[in-house]
Amino acid sequence: MLHDRVRVRKADGCGAHVEGIDLGRLTEREADDVREALFEHGVLFFRDQSLTPEQHVAMAEAIGRIDINRFFPALRGYPQIAKVEKTPEQRSNIGGGWHTDHSYDAEPAMGSILVARETPPIGGDTLFADMYAAYEALDDDARAEIAGLRAVHGSGHVFGAAGTATRGDQTALTARPGVETPESVHPVVIRHPGSGKPALYVNPGFTLRFEGRSREESLPLLQRLFAHAIQPERVCRFAWRPGSVAFWDNRATWHFALNDYHGHYRLMHRITLAGVALEAA
Ligand code: OGA
Ligand code: MN
Repeated sequence: MLHDRVRVRKADGCGAHVEGIDLGRLTEREADDVREALFEHGVLFFRDQSLTPEQHVAMAEAIGRIDINRFFPALRGYPQIAKVEKTPEQRSNIGGGWHTDHSYDAEPAMGSILVARETPPIGGDTLFADMYAAYEALDDDARAEIAGLRAVHGSGHVFGAAGTATRGDQTALTARPGVETPESVHPVVIRHPGSGKPALYVNPGFTLRFEGRSREESLPLLQRLFAHAIQPERVCRFAWRPGSVAFWDNRATWHFALNDYHGHYRLMHRITLAGVALEAA
């Protein structure tokens, strides 16, 4: 149940804006409210938060258990906080394509809490797409076609030795020796562990193919699902300011970091929360 001062207002297309909460002083009751609203709406947007790195870690721990990303560079002194950075000289950004974080893990991360530290004067917005709504909007034939299917997710094609991350100039993401890039299999339609609602769980960034089918055999259906999932009526766009926070649920949304601010600096701090193995809806 939502408590007195917390206001949650649905955003257009995907997610909700939350007001009346200071994330730096999150009470236990508010942490429960935030978790509940997250599972319901898929992504929550907060403005004008002044979180120190310590407070960022503390609010994350009040909501869940931290899962340290093995590919991203960490903020000095804070192994739990990943730096999502683009300098004026860099051309490639992090997260510049539709994806959801950590779907390549056997127990994919529940959510990610991204805090804007420095933003470009214009641009650098993030898009979010609602995977509850994507599933709901599938017609009966499409639902029958994917019922019972499972898909293979991987990270090697991005973060591995010859992955796409090694081709851009985000050199901090380049594969480090000893960092593993295993594959995992998840249901294509999951029952969200927090809300119990069905959600479409494949994504363009990390889903490779359906289990038991080759990539070539899988692509036509995968691409149809991907195109369906990003229809504009189920997508929203968040314009960051320093102090803005987006907290998304990786099982209920996708996101896409726009890369339209070359020559400017953008710095975000991300904490990822641990999730559970996913079950079919
Ligand atoms: C991420 C990511 C989006 C952004 O941190 O997982 O995709 O807008 N970032 O920086
Ligand atoms: Mn991401």
